[in-house]
Amino acid sequence: MIDSNNIFPVFNSIVSKKDKEKKLNQKAKVIWLTGLSGSGKTTIALELEKKIFKMGYFVQVLDGDNIRVGISNNLSFSDNDRLENIRRISEVSKLFIDCGIITINCFVSPTNSIRNKAKEIIGDKNFIGVYINANLETCEKRDTKGLYKKARMGEIDNFTGISSVFETPDPSFININTNKTSINKSVDYLLEAILPKIQYN
Ligand code: ADX
Repeated sequence: MIDSNNIFPVFNSIVSKKDKEKKLNQKAKVIWLTGLSGSGKTTIALELEKKIFKMGYFVQVLDGDNIRVGISNNLSFSDNDRLENIRRISEVSKLFIDCGIITINCFVSPTNSIRNKAKEIIGDKNFIGVYINANLETCEKRDTKGLYKKARMGEIDNFTGISSVFETPDPSFININTNKTSINKSVDYLLEAILPKIQYN
């Protein structure tokens, strides 16, 4: 593998990630939320962002729906394009954490190989995996964007959970069951789990 630090001087930035984390008084991590469409990823991410921002942390949410109208607007939901989508997001997230910023990422990221790719790019020690665990029945009942109905009618190809696979994440992911747990309780539980990992000291 190419060692970018030796080839491109820009990678030897004098102001290091450590310096930036110190200034922001936080540890920069990527909090990676995976789960079916409609499982509650974005809702939980936005609440968590609000809470930790109020506590003094500097944080940014990256979300599947926004990213797909911008940086990934030329990608479909085929296996290859999903992998490319996740590769782009992961590289962008890496730039954010190099600036000392915590990112909360909401992406369906349906397979273990896709999630492993994200973890590999971002780095094991910077990656906090979270499974927003709502089953298909719950998500389809909610159908907040009307996408499940369309997918059932055959109007959307490769729809996760209907015509495309969603694999259960490995046990290292923090498991939040939103079939049963309220948004508030889910956010509090997640907050408690991540706080020790983002605190500077
Ligand atoms: S991922 O699989 O590549 O991680 P991503 O999180 O970017 O997907 O986008 C998922 C969002 O796009 C869903 O929340 C949903 O609103 C929308 N979407 C549109 N088509 C699909 C599809 N075929 N499968 C899953 N989500 C889809």
